[in-house]
Amino acid sequence: MRKNIVAGNWKMNTTLQEGVKLAEEVNNALKEVKPNCDVIICVPFTHLASINNVISKGLGLGAENCADHKSGAYTGEVSAPMVASTGAKYVILGHSERRQYYGETAATLREKVALALENDLTPIFCIGEVLEEREADKHFDVVKSQIVDGLFNLSAEEFSKIILAYEPVWAIGTGKTATADQAEEMHAHIRNVIAEKYGQDVAQGTSILYGGSCKPSNAKELFAKPDVDGGLIGGASLKCADFMGIVNAF
Ligand code: PGA
Repeated sequence: MRKNIVAGNWKMNTTLQEGVKLAEEVNNALKEVKPNCDVIICVPFTHLASINNVISKGLGLGAENCADHKSGAYTGEVSAPMVASTGAKYVILGHSERRQYYGETAATLREKVALALENDLTPIFCIGEVLEEREADKHFDVVKSQIVDGLFNLSAEEFSKIILAYEPVWAIGTGKTATADQAEEMHAHIRNVIAEKYGQDVAQGTSILYGGSCKPSNAKELFAKPDVDGGLIGGASLKCADFMGIVNAF
């Protein structure tokens, strides 16, 4: 059966020293509570190796991106093998901020996903519509296209390694969360899209996280929905108490 997961996305926040401290706090807090879900933190590249040295097995570690090439003359890029060599096991791919500000397309994302999988990194693949698309009632189609174009070149075996994160762009960092019903409606749609291509077993086994202004006060209601398997947490992952409040919503 699919896993429940709470993953932090620190984005471009914290210095190395602040990040190591925050990771240690989360790691210590987890030892006390025995969470009912997998817990992951996705952190800046510069922090990965140091954080990997201070956390225990019970806390997963991921990057927030990786390059669409394996190695070579790509100044400033960080490859999937480099990420994997730090000890990280996950990588966020296709975050709306990457799509919007750095021009990531489905074609680039297919390369990144392939390289992540080749290097035993689990992609946390993000999808989600902007406000205009929702208002024009195109959100179901937009999200379906993002999945089809970014992931449906994979075999069923490869696809079953993917974690999906539905993040309506209008809810990210805005304080405007999707209602639990809006999230459930989209998550059920996503599961149907997967089932049509890969069958019910793969669809039922895929973890689909919700992201967008998720916080301790709304996590319980969101996670109670049958197709919401956890959260990808931005702002609230930067404070140990808030992040743990969300972890403990399971
Ligand atoms: P937020 O970000 O929780 O700050 O809205 C979520 C995300 O972008 O992953």
